[in-house]
Parts: sequence; structure tokens; C-alpha cells
Amino acid sequence: MDRDQALNEAQTVLTDESVDDAAALHRAVEVLSDAHPAWSWVGVYLLVGDKLILGPFVGPDTEHTEIPVGTGVCGQAVESGRNMVIGNVKQYGEYLACSPSTQSEMVLLIKDDGDIVGELDIDSDDLDAFAPEDLDALRPLAALAGPRCRRLAAALS
Ligand code: SME
Repeated sequence: MDRDQALNEAQTVLTDESVDDAAALHRAVEVLSDAHPAWSWVGVYLLVGDKLILGPFVGPDTEHTEIPVGTGVCGQAVESGRNMVIGNVKQYGEYLACSPSTQSEMVLLIKDDGDIVGELDIDSDDLDAFAPEDLDALRPLAALAGPRCRRLAAALS
């Protein structure tokens, strides 16, 4: 599957109301991971109160299943209300290591009705693996994921 096909398939599954929220998000991260060999970990965190709770992901298990807002790249993205692209995580003081081989990371906030409800977190074993175009390509998916993340987060609170 190439990258455009992956984006299309992820959009299709996220808009398919017959697929439940967890399954739709899991399929979306799965196709993104399959289509981008340099993306070693692709996952969704849900914002529940003042914590990010790990949702569907593809990649090595991480000890960071709960991240307080303000902590790590993930928590700072929520606190600042900004997407993050870190070209070299080893030079980023607030980085929480998921895997020793990770070199770069991207976090795209997921919003619903303007509220942050989660985020898409992607790691790569390559330095500078993420370009602004990657964020742009993923924005439609983040928008479609918003209501699903809000429902999943509400179920956890
Ligand atoms: N690196 C993230 C933690 C999540 S793991 O990468 C999956 C951070 O600094 O918040």
C-alpha cells in the first residue's frame, strides 16, 4: 500500500460508522504504519482530564501509557496547544524515551469542536523523518478522529 492509499484507507475507516471507535483508530494507525517504513511507532493518545492515556498503537510496547499534560513531547503539545516536530529527540530535554532507537518524533493534536481530545504520535528511527508536509497530509485524519477520540476519552474518565 502506498502513502496515498494508506491515507485514503484511513479516512475511509474513520468515516465508516459501522466500525467502532477503537477498531477504526487501530486500523488507521495500522495502515499509516504499514505505508511508512521509517515510522517505527504510530499511536493515539487520548486526553482524559490532565493525562494522556495510550490508545491504539502499532510498534514496540511503551512504558509511557499515561503521560501528564506538560510532560514529554506529547504532554507539551497539549499544554502549548501546538503540534510538535522534533528532528532529533536526543537533543530535546523534555523527551520521554519510548524506544532507544527512536531519533525523531511528530505529534499532531486531535481536536473535536476546537477542544483537544487526543493526539497522533509518530516516532521514527531516522533523524529528521518528519516534514511539515507530513503534518499537513495527516490533518484530515486528525479531524476525522476527533469525535471518536472524544468518545473513547469520555469512556475512560
Ligand atoms: N516520546 C513521547 C512519549 C511517547 S512514546 O514515544 C510512544 C514523549 O516524549 O512524550
